[in-house]
Amino acid sequence: EKVTVSVIKADVGSVVGHSRPHPSMMQAAKKILTEKQKQGVLEDFYVTRVGDDINLFMTHYKGENNKEIHGAAWDCFQEATKIAKSMKLYAAGQDILTDAFSGNVKGAGPGSAEMTFEERGSEPMLFFMADKTEPSAYSPILSRIYLDPFTTTGLVVDARAKKGFDVEIHDVLDHKKVVMSSPEETLNILALLGDTSRYAIKRVSSRAGIGPACVVSTDKLNMTAGKYVGKDDPVCICRSQSGLPSVGEYTQPFLMTSWIAGGWMRGSHYGTFYPCSPEDSDPTYFDGPPRICCLGFQLNNGKLQGLEPLNTKGGDHIPVDFFGNPTFDSARANAIKTSKFLRTQGPFTPSILPAEEMEYTSRPEVIKELKSRFESVDEKPVKSVTKKKKDVE
Ligand code: 13P
Ligand code: 13P
Ligand code: MG
Ligand code: MG
Ligand code: MG
Repeated sequence: EKVTVSVIKADVGSVVGHSRPHPSMMQAAKKILTEKQKQGVLEDFYVTRVGDDINLFMTHYKGENNKEIHGAAWDCFQEATKIAKSMKLYAAGQDILTDAFSGNVKGAGPGSAEMTFEERGSEPMLFFMADKTEPSAYSPILSRIYLDPFTTTGLVVDARAKKGFDVEIHDVLDHKKVVMSSPEETLNILALLGDTSRYAIKRVSSRAGIGPACVVSTDKLNMTAGKYVGKDDPVCICRSQSGLPSVGEYTQPFLMTSWIAGGWMRGSHYGTFYPCSPEDSDPTYFDGPPRICCLGFQLNNGKLQGLEPLNTKGGDHIPVDFFGNPTFDSARANAIKTSKFLRTQGPFTPSILPAEEMEYTSRPEVIKELKSRFESVDEKPVKSVTKKKKDVE
């Protein structure tokens, strides 16, 4: 029987601006999922957060897009919203776009990433969670991990990893997808992914029969709502080792350099990813910089196994907190240094996002106000001196 690992996440309000969900909101989610575990809906679960986003890790045997699983998450976010509203927390219910649950959280506001696979003899898993950014922020990092042999030595020395990976790329504006294969199509894959405003990696799968390697939540929230309702703050679930990138090959890119991610401050700025523990994920400087956490669990017959005793129930798990380690101190220092540098550029690109990506803009009103004052610039059209391609050939 195949196990399904689902992460469903939402920002339904936080204490002091967009900082952190109240502990009672997390408690409410934990209580609901404990009940779902008792009822046998869930095999296991863990409730955590990054910045102001509540993340529900859930394992089960019901497959992806399952009504009971999505319904359980929906109930958690409804309950947490009630608490947030009663406390007058900021942006209470931010990511909940509809009153009626239709069986699936897709398009309803929360983000989701799910993968289904045959559990191996040992199944080490990593859960990345990011705040104040968008799904395509993972693209350059996953490209390094799955496509670059100078980053992932496993691509050269592990016979199964060497067979390459299938990369499913989503066009988040046109709602289309394409599956491309590495290493043969690596350069074309990068040709698409370079446009982070449009393309994002949704899924990577082994070409050696191991199944899914990673899955990202790509729900483009702001598009779904047709107006700004918060950035996507995406998660990425990864399986590792034995034919897949090793745990360390997944974490390495976060120390080898710093990664620029879009979606900081009012969803409208670029900042540098700050790898950290969930405890350290409050967006303390200019609502950021974009935080990223990495929690690890072993799967054990569908259950999450961290550092807690065997068969611990009620979501009381202790994951390995990779970015909480002092190893990443220099990455954090560099994230602050480079984010501060980006800030020196003020309200100009490339410190702010390109016009069509801005979630806040007053430009249309400014242009409207100036309509009568704009005059045409009376210059004679300059005759093009560029020779037509045909003439040159
Ligand atoms: P308000 O427009 O509600 O002040 O929110 C600002 C903000 O931080 C949104 O990202
Ligand atoms: P969230 O998407 O995390 O709610 O952040 C909104 C924002 O833009 C804060 O500046
Ligand atoms: Mg928020
Ligand atoms: Mg957030
Ligand atoms: Mg958000």
